[in-house]
Amino acid sequence: MAEVYDLVVIGTGPGGYVCAIRAAQLGMKVCVVEKRKTHGGTCLNVGCIPSKALLHASELFEEAGHEFAPLGIRIPAPELDLPTMMKHKQDVIDGNVGGIQFLLKKNKIDVVHGTGSILSKGNVGVALEDGTNSVIETRNIVIATGSDVARLPGIEIDEQVVVSSTGALELASVPKKMIVVGAGVIGLELGSVWRRLGAEVTVVEYLDRILPGMDLDTCKTFQRILAKQGFAFKLGTKVTGVEKTEAGAVVSLEPAAGGETETVEADVVLIAIGRVPYTEGLGLEAVGVARDERGRIEVNDHFQTSVQGIYAIGDVIRGAMLAHKAEDEGVAVAEILAGQHGHVNYDVIPGVVYTMPEIASVGKTEEDLKAAGVVYSVGKFPFTANGRAKAMRHTEGFVKVIADKATDRVLGVHILGAGAGEMIHEAAVLMEFGGSSEDLARTCHAHPTMSEAVKEAAMAVDKRAIHM
Ligand code: FAD
Ligand code: NAI
Repeated sequence: MAEVYDLVVIGTGPGGYVCAIRAAQLGMKVCVVEKRKTHGGTCLNVGCIPSKALLHASELFEEAGHEFAPLGIRIPAPELDLPTMMKHKQDVIDGNVGGIQFLLKKNKIDVVHGTGSILSKGNVGVALEDGTNSVIETRNIVIATGSDVARLPGIEIDEQVVVSSTGALELASVPKKMIVVGAGVIGLELGSVWRRLGAEVTVVEYLDRILPGMDLDTCKTFQRILAKQGFAFKLGTKVTGVEKTEAGAVVSLEPAAGGETETVEADVVLIAIGRVPYTEGLGLEAVGVARDERGRIEVNDHFQTSVQGIYAIGDVIRGAMLAHKAEDEGVAVAEILAGQHGHVNYDVIPGVVYTMPEIASVGKTEEDLKAAGVVYSVGKFPFTANGRAKAMRHTEGFVKVIADKATDRVLGVHILGAGAGEMIHEAAVLMEFGGSSEDLARTCHAHPTMSEAVKEAAMAVDKRAIHM
């Protein structure tokens, strides 16, 4: 008789594979279904990991070209070897996806490659790679099918001239002119990669600001830094059409509020206007799993969908589309299934934009607090006043600590600076424990480190920063 699993997870991105491993650790018999040849989902195959491989390599390329001479290192102008840079990216992907395969095996998780669908509460159908179908019986199902690129109506993504992030991670040559549609995380990260490698990059954004949702004051400074690096911005502008030509593409633009159309030429157009939940072919309607108006699977606090025994996590449900959010939900739902108290604290999920400098944020922005009518104090400390930042010529940016005016509890921390993505976590730990700016200010920080600016910003909440 075929085995009945405790849990079948559909999709092995950061949400799915982490959920499967945690469930196996807790003694469950687990099977995963994945339609890709490799595990790791968007994140490891075409997202976080490959983008960071190219961001790192292109950052060093730019540093070697422009930043070494002032440090007394004279080298000839660096030459780009794009095929080798792309091979580095592929090696990083291969190493990471191979690691997940190893972990699934180590945790005795059965793997089925094919496209999963939910036939009924306890039955997952799989269209296998060889064209046959199979049915897996299970007590619980976790849907972790992630997200897909959002498209602009009437604009076809061919992944050559008009590309999504996936195509932008594997361009065969450096475009002369690149138009990035959307000043979100993908647009600024992948725009940075190709600008550093020599492209002229223009970012077209519908809103009148970059990185909506992140702290506005931090983003304004960041935009000025990006403009100094060579980015051109067209904010408050919408793309009304993209026409492919022999040389590339002609993009039609219009003020967001309406007005005269203008056209700009580009070799490559990157569409980065967000991502949408991916539920195609899962058969959700037939089993009665409800979705909201944005197509996201609806879940309760325990990640259960409208059908008992069917759960969902990651990009396919509400909340930030971030790998670590998906992972934490994977752990939480596995623990809930094991009768434990799995939980995700959505107030303390860091977000990082891996540009140079980086932006890292956790908790509330000033805009959030104003909208909620919370009275707060701000402490800000610039990296120009930090010894280590000066030694490394990384003086751009600042740390900003926002604390409740009455209780001093830290409500948000925003860092713009080199290495911000590593520095943010002391703030996350502090906030997880409900700490105050006083707690942070009285914690000894090693000297000389960039992190001293975090302590100084906490001191600045009470107007007692020492080095400013
Ligand atoms: P996914 O990673 O999308 O995985 C879903 C998996 O389900 C896929 O493998 C898919 O093949 C599979 N699947 C779907 N349907 C079926 C089916 N019917 N049957 C079987 N399998 C199925 N986030 C960060 O936190 N940091 C970053 O630096 C970052 N960088 C990014 C860069 C880019 C270019 C992109 C596009 C995204 C980035 N993200 C980043 C977002 C991150 O990739 C996602 O938030 C994360 O991958 C979501 O995880 P998930 O498990 O929910 O879904
Ligand atoms: P995003 O939501 O971050 O940004 C999309 C941008 O496009 C927004 O600024 C939006 O106002 C703009 N926009 C929307 N429609 C437009 C239009 N028609 N014309 C012009 N501008 C338009 O989405 P993005 O950058 O595509 O990233 C998708 C997801 O992937 C994000 O949710 C993000 O969390 C995740 N991601 C995370 C990364 C990280 O954590 N470092 C890196 C890359 C992606």
